[in-house]
Amino acid sequence: MISDANLIVGMEHGEDAGVYKLRDDLAIIQTVDFFTPIVDDPYTFGQIAVTNALSDVYAMGGKPLTAMNIVCFPVKKMDIAVLRKILWGGLDKMQEAGVLLIGGHSVEDDELKYGLSVTGVIHPDKVLLNRGGRVGDSLILTKPLGTGIVSTALKGNVADEALVAKSITAMTTLNKTAAELMMETPDVHACTDVTGFGLLGHAAEMIEGSDVGMVIHASLVPFFPGIREFVEMGVVPGGLHRNRAFRKSIMEINPDCPDWMVDIFFDPQTAGGLLIAVSRNHGEDLIRKMHDRGIPEAAIIGEIVAEPRGRIHLV
Ligand code: CO
Ligand code: CO
Repeated sequence: MISDANLIVGMEHGEDAGVYKLRDDLAIIQTVDFFTPIVDDPYTFGQIAVTNALSDVYAMGGKPLTAMNIVCFPVKKMDIAVLRKILWGGLDKMQEAGVLLIGGHSVEDDELKYGLSVTGVIHPDKVLLNRGGRVGDSLILTKPLGTGIVSTALKGNVADEALVAKSITAMTTLNKTAAELMMETPDVHACTDVTGFGLLGHAAEMIEGSDVGMVIHASLVPFFPGIREFVEMGVVPGGLHRNRAFRKSIMEINPDCPDWMVDIFFDPQTAGGLLIAVSRNHGEDLIRKMHDRGIPEAAIIGEIVAEPRGRIHLV
């Protein structure tokens, strides 16, 4: 591995994005994300893909500036109008974020995929990593869980319209405002965004192998209403059980915490919310600001604790 004195966050860190220092007061954040459609409407898919791709910059406390489209398209099988709608949805979301599209690349592929490479900026001393939470910190989650379960139910034609609409709203809500409020708040010590590993998978990354642990209060975690039935019917994405099995050894689950709820906490999310560790003094204040600024389901869901060290206690 090539090392460089200006590298702040590189591949070995398992972080949300890479960070490279340009000057003492300026670093760039770089990230890339693309995937296959999870909704039928191409415009909405474009919006979701961009919301998701920008999220890793917000999770580090950065401001995304420019982006490039990444497109894989089955040009022989699919109407090019579909691609236009995807790119239009993506562009609208980039405009909302104040991000400039400056290029892109497309290849022919059997399977449609869309996403972005994103470049953002941040002060080198302000980079938020997923590690760094301190004992006593409150843990804030900014979006309800369940997008993976709802997408699976949608594929099986068993999800009702209102639920799908809720999930789409969550997946197309930028983490921009949440990140801006977070960066205005003193004593924020760590942050990540909740994506493919689910809430508890990403929570685990915040404390694994460290000298702190985490308590999560199951009853405080926001998730979409009505998804319990899907979990109990086994309508869940394959990744959910993989996520849960992978983190089994660091979980301490209270016996009265229902199994279906634990499943929801491992549901892989697309464009999920931020998970923030902030000193207890400022946690309530940050939540109030988020509620005032249109992030109504943001909630304090737990805290960083001294014991169990390196483990998550679900109560
Ligand atoms: Co991330
Ligand atoms: Co990512």
